[in-house]
Amino acid sequence: MTGAVAKTIGMLTGGGDCPGLNAVIRAVVRSSDDAGWDCVAVLEGWRGLVEARFQDLGVLEVSGILPRGGTIIGTSRTNPFKLDGGVEKVLQSFRDRELDALVAIGGEDTLGVAAKLYTEYDLPVVGVPKTIDNDLSGTDYTFGFDTAVTIATEAIDRLHTTAESHNRVMVVEVMGRHAGWIAVHSGIAGGADVILIPEQPVVYEEVVEEIQSRHAKGKNFSIVVVSEGCELPGAEDKGEVDQFGHKLLAKRGVGEHLGEEIEARTGYETRVTVLGHIQRGGSPTARDRILATRFGLKAADLVNAGEFGQMAALRGDDVIACSLDEATAELKTVPSEWYEVAKAFFG
Ligand code: F6P
Repeated sequence: MTGAVAKTIGMLTGGGDCPGLNAVIRAVVRSSDDAGWDCVAVLEGWRGLVEARFQDLGVLEVSGILPRGGTIIGTSRTNPFKLDGGVEKVLQSFRDRELDALVAIGGEDTLGVAAKLYTEYDLPVVGVPKTIDNDLSGTDYTFGFDTAVTIATEAIDRLHTTAESHNRVMVVEVMGRHAGWIAVHSGIAGGADVILIPEQPVVYEEVVEEIQSRHAKGKNFSIVVVSEGCELPGAEDKGEVDQFGHKLLAKRGVGEHLGEEIEARTGYETRVTVLGHIQRGGSPTARDRILATRFGLKAADLVNAGEFGQMAALRGDDVIACSLDEATAELKTVPSEWYEVAKAFFG
């Protein structure tokens, strides 16, 4: 790739950290370096532009980061649209640091801000879709998801041995926010006996029936995977929200509540495991490293072509450009066909 005019590209990572972020950063820096451009890290997501915190990013700084989890440039859930004068500060810092383009790597919140800054303020920004939740529209998959599913699947495999040895019901709470992608994929891969996701109503009687029918067939243990975003009948909601208005789902105790209900209704000994941030930690899978790398190269290409307001996206096996507006218009939730695949193995 050759850039006609020398450019300075800012890059930020926003929202929850996610395996593969460093692979994107590396790809953008390497590609920009080939083109003779400079890269600058905007530290800790949108907060870095609000507070004008930058750091030069060259080939040396990104050497060796491909297999590393997290993000070397920091992240936050800062929403400049919720801060007094936040947007003006973002635009001022962008100008003061003499950036020509911004690569925003994030999920629906970070990219939602990017989409608004592009449409309402003409900020030259391109997006890269990251989230373990896989809930972003416009792309078949986000990077980070494969790693989270792999970790959750391994956890389910391990919990099987205790479930079998003790004749227990093991409830596994996984992340995913308002989409059940992690639950459905890890549940299918791990051979879960019941999978509960936010897209489908939870009916305790049905859960109990599946577990009891296993016992009737001589299987004295069960694995139940539940997504943190499920609405459980009778469960109380604590109203805490973040700057984007999202409920803090981990604090709702969905797994605990479900476990208590199952034990009370079946009389079977039940234990609960909340996988939490383990799902986001550590080294990305090979698949996520490759996807993140391809997304990073595409983002650099989009900047080179001056195609702003776009996001790198996966369709089938191709990495294409899709508009940030399309990507952030609505959440990509689990369609019923996917849930049918999971249900085929219930009970
Ligand atoms: O969006 C990624 C995610 O891990 C969700 O699955 C989860 O609900 C949320 O972030 C947790 O956020 P935090 O790390 O701020 O507790």
